[in-house]
Amino acid sequence: MIIVKSSQEIEAMRRAGAIVGQFFEEITRHVKPGVATLHLEEIAEEYVAKHGVKGAFKGYLGYPANLCTSINEEVVHGIPSGTRVLREGDIVSIDFGVVLNGFYGDAARTYAVGGISPDSENLLKATERALGKGIGASLPGNRLGDISSSVQEEAEGAGFSVVRDFVGHGIGRTLHEEPQIPNFGTAGIGPKLMPGMVLAIEPMINEGGYAVEILPDGWTVVTRDRNRSAHFEHMVAITPEGNRILSLP
Ligand code: CO
Repeated sequence: MIIVKSSQEIEAMRRAGAIVGQFFEEITRHVKPGVATLHLEEIAEEYVAKHGVKGAFKGYLGYPANLCTSINEEVVHGIPSGTRVLREGDIVSIDFGVVLNGFYGDAARTYAVGGISPDSENLLKATERALGKGIGASLPGNRLGDISSSVQEEAEGAGFSVVRDFVGHGIGRTLHEEPQIPNFGTAGIGPKLMPGMVLAIEPMINEGGYAVEILPDGWTVVTRDRNRSAHFEHMVAITPEGNRILSLP
């Protein structure tokens, strides 16, 4: 069952989402060559304390950090580390979530570290565009498959592939609610979108093939062919008029 939120609940989720959105602005200036991903984690740790929220990921199924920091061929769930230092030309996907007054906020984006190759720039742009298409299809009366197919069309149309093994999700009083939101699929099928649903849409888009595997640390997801991957995520509320992105500052 997909949980429909009241307008008060959506307002509470917007407050959680806004704190997440503001973090992505504040972390931007720290994403540069020479910075260890553990330094970004330390900033996140201070950020949650300062804003009186709880990190959504730390402790979730035993995950050890507030952030996921996934570099280059890492897709998602990279664990911040003092020995993983960002280098010029890298791309790094940062995923961050909080809990405020019992409601979750969750978003992600991929950053360029200094100057990056035109191919990597295209990957980032296409992934962000694919998320935008998914948000554009998030309208009352549409179906879940309309979101999935819009994302897929944009990503594959740009020559990239869509990760199959990880998907977006409903979000609310838990981090992961129904429905699962694949970034691939068929328009016109699936549950009907209704005002009050809140969806975390999060395409993970690969330069090469879509296959992924998990590293021996049990968390880090990498592309099987070790080509690069990008990840953008927003939480979106379906409204009577259309939708509203909740994870903006
Ligand atoms: Co998510």
